[in-house]
Amino acid sequence: MSAHRSFPPHRFLPQGPLTGRIRVPGDKSISHRALMFASLAIGETVIDGLLEGEDVHATARAMQQMGARIEKDETGRWRVHGVGVGGLLEPEAPLEMGNSGTSTRLLMGLLASHGFAASFTGDASLSARPMARVIAPLSQMGARFTARAGDRLPILMEGAHPAVPIEYRLPVASAQVKSAVLLAALNTPGTTTVIEPVPTRDHTERMLSAFGVEVAIGEDADGARTIAIHGPCDMSPCTLTVPGDPSSAAFFAVAALLVPGSDLVIENVGLNPTRDGIFRVLRAMGGSIEELDRREVGGEPVADLRVRHSALKGVEVDPAIAPSMIDEFPVLFVAAALAEGRTVTSGLDELRVKESDRLATMAAALTAVGAQVDERADGLVIEGSAGAALVGGGPVATRLDHRIAMSMAVAGLASAEGVAIDDAAPIATSFPDFLDLLAEATR
Ligand code: S3P
Repeated sequence: MSAHRSFPPHRFLPQGPLTGRIRVPGDKSISHRALMFASLAIGETVIDGLLEGEDVHATARAMQQMGARIEKDETGRWRVHGVGVGGLLEPEAPLEMGNSGTSTRLLMGLLASHGFAASFTGDASLSARPMARVIAPLSQMGARFTARAGDRLPILMEGAHPAVPIEYRLPVASAQVKSAVLLAALNTPGTTTVIEPVPTRDHTERMLSAFGVEVAIGEDADGARTIAIHGPCDMSPCTLTVPGDPSSAAFFAVAALLVPGSDLVIENVGLNPTRDGIFRVLRAMGGSIEELDRREVGGEPVADLRVRHSALKGVEVDPAIAPSMIDEFPVLFVAAALAEGRTVTSGLDELRVKESDRLATMAAALTAVGAQVDERADGLVIEGSAGAALVGGGPVATRLDHRIAMSMAVAGLASAEGVAIDDAAPIATSFPDFLDLLAEATR
């Protein structure tokens, strides 16, 4: 995908207040699932508000390679004609996943119960990420994998048909692993159960129900959440609206909290309780974030968020909240760098295996622009500047990680000299309009 990237390296200068109203793009997690599930339903599914980022395009191309028809109509909606559960065709070429861990892990699950082979490739960041977490349960279901050392991409997978239903207790809190097993279950005869000791984002469960799949949610004897699917399933097409991505909204929320004089409304932000942890923590730090017009969009809670400049205070972040803000720690670290007092985070080992090692990458980047950061094995401890602008500098290394790039852009707004990042191209992974919206909000 790098050939399609359009942003040059970039310097983010200090800016005046963020004001007015902006609308962030569709939720990335929900957009991937919408395309995958629509590709399994016979008939036409219409999707409104789909994120048009590179990661989602990787999913769309893969589904097209396996027989789905996916088109954008003149109104901007996406129309998908699916092939039916079990009806995907063997891809003739490798599935190129770019930077997208969600595409890779969910598709491995989906294809694990199809009787054909598929190979997965990715960029340098994705090729460094661990895949053992999906290989383990999917192998139990009968799929076979040939992977590079350390269970990394490129990977050749041979699906099993029929696959074997399993009961699987998640060893890591991961919505991608949960979803991989549940997607394999769709074409597996019998009952497949996932046990989730720590709840993670539940978009898969919610959206499968919208496509007519019966998803049985319960609790085991220890109080862990259980999710069961009895396959093979039929899926019926539907009409879907994708809410705005809270992970994208978080960059603007932190920017508005940090830049004096800001008063910004971010419209249509998804506030699923498995995703809204960042807003809870920012409020606990003293951030003024008001919910306007709470409503439901596409089976998900949504509101407009009014965010005003606030003096933030450091906090100790309870590791139990981490799964509901797992992608928002880089930008939280920026907020912490400007808060008054110390912010302590822990229990964040998973951040080391995201698009980059987000603890190491953020510690290095923030330190380079003048923040006081102590990197621990499982978190960062940050002494904030009590609102004083960071010195700035750079270029800092973003390591092919869109969320590092956008977090350091926010740091640039709250700096004296601006912050340069080495590569702004990865922003297109999840938020192609980021620079335009930033210009709009600071105009
Ligand atoms: C995602 C789950 C999370 C998250 C990722 C998207 C999903 O990953 O970090 O950006 O859509 O299911 P993990 O399952 O690895 O926590």
